[in-house]
Amino acid sequence: MNKPIVVVNFKTYESAQGFSAENLAKIMEGIQTSARLVAAVSSFDLSSVVRAAPELEVWCQHLDPIVYGSNTGFLHPLTAIERGARGTLINHAEHKVGVNHISKLTEIIPEEFVLCACAADVPEAKILSSFGPAFVAVEPPELIGGDVSVTSVDPAIVSGTVEAVNGVSNVGVLCGAGIKNGKDVIKAIELGASGVLLASGVTKSNNPEAALMDLVSLID
Ligand code: G3P
Repeated sequence: MNKPIVVVNFKTYESAQGFSAENLAKIMEGIQTSARLVAAVSSFDLSSVVRAAPELEVWCQHLDPIVYGSNTGFLHPLTAIERGARGTLINHAEHKVGVNHISKLTEIIPEEFVLCACAADVPEAKILSSFGPAFVAVEPPELIGGDVSVTSVDPAIVSGTVEAVNGVSNVGVLCGAGIKNGKDVIKAIELGASGVLLASGVTKSNNPEAALMDLVSLID
């Protein structure tokens, strides 16, 4: 079985930008766990985070399906890879894109580059799984940033996504929104997910190291 994956989305939280992003990444790198810990960082911080925490798996939060050329302001996948990104989120609830965007992106990125396509519900997760991303992350938008975990409030969206996605491919399923602790992570795994995608449980914690240790505490 693959290692359970815990992806921390740094978003643009002050605690996870610039020098603070480097510090948080170093904390993540130092956590002793059998889980696969991933930091999804601002593109501005990609290079410096990779330098600061070379052992940590680092993803982008978004990429555009463009090639070298005249694309002012866009996020170019091959440059992200050159700067150390090993994967990316796409279609996050806070940065929605169309299916064309995702489809074109899959044509540009190399096979080993991890694509984690975010979905708001089971039907969207099923559609996105047809593009063959490594992961589909289901996150009910109304629960994002809240205090209650999707795994407690809406376990059916997690198990339903696992069922729907397994029917069309062997894409891994992550769940997110309100994930805060080890119990939430284990519940996600019990529901059939490969892991979790979270942000505020770590980025808004007074003690991110303790929060991270708690998150992975029940993983063997
Ligand atoms: O990308 C993770 C996210 O949208 C969930 O955020 O703060 O509810 O863990 P949060």
